[in-house]
Amino acid sequence: MRLNSPKMNIMHKACMRASKSLIRDFGELEKLQVSSKGPGDFVSAADKRSEKIIIEELLKVNPNYGILSEEAGVINKDNKDNRWIIDPIDGTLNFLNGIPQFAISIGYEEKGEIVSGIIFDPIKDETFFAEKGAGAFLNNSRIRVTNKKKLKDCILVTGGPKSESEQKKQIFEEYVKISNLVDTPIRKFGSAALDIANVSCGRFDGFWQWELSFWDIAAGLIILKEAGGFVDFIDNNDKNLIKKNIIATNSNIHQELKDSLMKKNIE
Ligand code: IPD
Ligand code: CA
Ligand code: CA
Repeated sequence: MRLNSPKMNIMHKACMRASKSLIRDFGELEKLQVSSKGPGDFVSAADKRSEKIIIEELLKVNPNYGILSEEAGVINKDNKDNRWIIDPIDGTLNFLNGIPQFAISIGYEEKGEIVSGIIFDPIKDETFFAEKGAGAFLNNSRIRVTNKKKLKDCILVTGGPKSESEQKKQIFEEYVKISNLVDTPIRKFGSAALDIANVSCGRFDGFWQWELSFWDIAAGLIILKEAGGFVDFIDNNDKNLIKKNIIATNSNIHQELKDSLMKKNIE
């Protein structure tokens, strides 16, 4: 690990422990696909097992730190200065179906700002991590976003809409609109955390998605920033800003992608 800070060590250790349980559960899933009950309950148990291990590890070192985690919710709610933001499995639907594209994501927030984060893909054994001012890394190598300047030349990735989304029509229309502006087909991989990580290391040039949750993207925010990328939010429909509409790019194409997304369709 290139970043040897206490925070990074704690997050890394939590990921490593939780991932052992995840990999074991992922292996078990094959057998469950054929059972009559299906793998749904098992996956939700796997999610909770991973989360329990992560929270245990993090609280062992700093029992008073706040936590916002997808399944467990809020812990130590009064500590707003030091907070871990956890997604124990990002890409659950992939996990559930035996598709090896999912990750653990942990961000660390200090006084309202995400200052470090880690995204661990246990199947590819890829650890993306960053700390404010210290750069972003994939395993032992420094990573950077691409240098492409024209949206037309870019490889973009997106996700959603969620099945319960009320904005499905708009989201699909945008997908068509953006598809027509780029030379290569848009990618869709089903893990927002890994999508941002993959923009950070230059596999993609940009990512956008509506209605994400904070735990999907918290770690990705600092990793992308430290890799030279740019993150923006468009919170037009959500007064409480609970759902995040994110544009995360190599920074060069930010304005062009944002303008294209915001442009109204001419009937
Ligand atoms: C989901 C993934 C997916 C995104 C969904 C998220 P989960 O997280 O990030 O890529 O499209 O909106 O809910 O449920 O697998 O943790
Ligand atoms: Ca998630
Ligand atoms: Ca999750």
